[in-house]
Amino acid sequence: MAENSEFKSKIGLIAATVGSAVGLGNVWRFPAETQANGGAAFLLVYVVCVLLFGIPVMLGEFAIGRAGRSDAIESYRKLSPGTGWWISGFLGILCAYLILTFYMVVSGWTLEYLFQSLTGELYAPIAGVAEGSNLQFSDRMQEYIGSVWPPMIWTWITIIICGAVLCMGVQKGIERASNILMPLLFVILVILCITAMTLPKAAEGLEYFFSPDFSKITPEVWVSALGQSFFSLSLGMGTLITYGSYFKKDTNLTNTAVTVSLLDMFVAILVGVIIFPGVMSFGLEDENFGGSSLVFVTFPEIFNMMWCPRLWSTLFFILLAVAALTSSISISEVSIAYFCGHFKMKRTTATWLVLAPLMVLSSVSSLSNGILSDWKIFGYTFFDACDQFTANLLMPLGALIMSVYIGWFAPKHMMMDQLTNGGTLRNRFARPVIFLLKWVTPILITVILVTSLF
Ligand code: TRP
Repeated sequence: MAENSEFKSKIGLIAATVGSAVGLGNVWRFPAETQANGGAAFLLVYVVCVLLFGIPVMLGEFAIGRAGRSDAIESYRKLSPGTGWWISGFLGILCAYLILTFYMVVSGWTLEYLFQSLTGELYAPIAGVAEGSNLQFSDRMQEYIGSVWPPMIWTWITIIICGAVLCMGVQKGIERASNILMPLLFVILVILCITAMTLPKAAEGLEYFFSPDFSKITPEVWVSALGQSFFSLSLGMGTLITYGSYFKKDTNLTNTAVTVSLLDMFVAILVGVIIFPGVMSFGLEDENFGGSSLVFVTFPEIFNMMWCPRLWSTLFFILLAVAALTSSISISEVSIAYFCGHFKMKRTTATWLVLAPLMVLSSVSSLSNGILSDWKIFGYTFFDACDQFTANLLMPLGALIMSVYIGWFAPKHMMMDQLTNGGTLRNRFARPVIFLLKWVTPILITVILVTSLF
């Protein structure tokens, strides 16, 4: 990896890592998973997963990356030469690829919605559906994602934009884009939150989101919440190992991990506070309205009640597109860093080599919401299979392997050194984090995964 591949400023480093974490996972996947898993019960388990597993695993990834100073595979090789641990980095890269196949498709949807908000088409009444009817936006969404060309073309456009930013490299591309755009996303979400509170059934929505029914906490809820927390924090597949290698020697890893995780969780909760009042007020509780299309239905409904829907809608979808892009970029970066480092490729070549096959795979993923929907893998469409299989199985597995590595097999003082910056930093969380990674994380992840199988 080139020596200058480093985040320049502390803020830039946090913005880029938050940029990776905050994405469609928070805005699109989180509310859909919450609705599918019993509302507030899911939120509660999710928060526990972030605090208990997410933060320690994130620290583990940062540490491996910064100690190994290389990509996900090479870092393991440098830290434990002659062993097979690098395979864990390799699995991560494969998993990243699977995620990209559906992530790029949903990022494409956001671009289409942005375009339609700009032109005002999104808010034009559709023939045969009464204005103000719930069917307005959900019909539109179903028809759109099921069609052949538009979602596919927007997916390709997304891939090309990502490629362009990635070619520019770490500082000029990733860091600069995240610095400006992530703060804006927060501001607009807060404004939308205030608007959502004025909806007729705001109180019911908040109750659904915040007051848990403990009987709904089942093993499946644990698996989904664990998967969602890893997905949302970008864990378990080497992304943050790669980002960790761009951190400076004096970066305080613990502060960074806690800041990033809390901001990420905060965004997800804000989105819930916006969406569930909307879900209740517009009669979208029915599962048929939920799932993948929730955000694309509820948000337009809310904008439609606001002054100048097109303005808000455009602003929101710009930011959602950006959140999606900064995350897609971070997922692609895992493979690109590996190709650049290992095969000594130019960044541009590596970028297009990684992205070209994705054009085909994500097209298949897009079509599986329409004409290929009868083709099922374990009962899921290709799109849903990539989503569920990665988040609920591969990512926790990746995190499990990593924590076993850190707890038991990594060079003895590696983790302690990284958490205290070689002893120069007092860190009272260092020991508890190491304990968690050694005992609690591996055992609990195993228990959760195994119980879900039965
Ligand atoms: N965390 C991102 C989101 O919430 C998605 C993402 C980016 C990701 N990088 C990742 C998920 C690495 C898993 C692994 O949208």
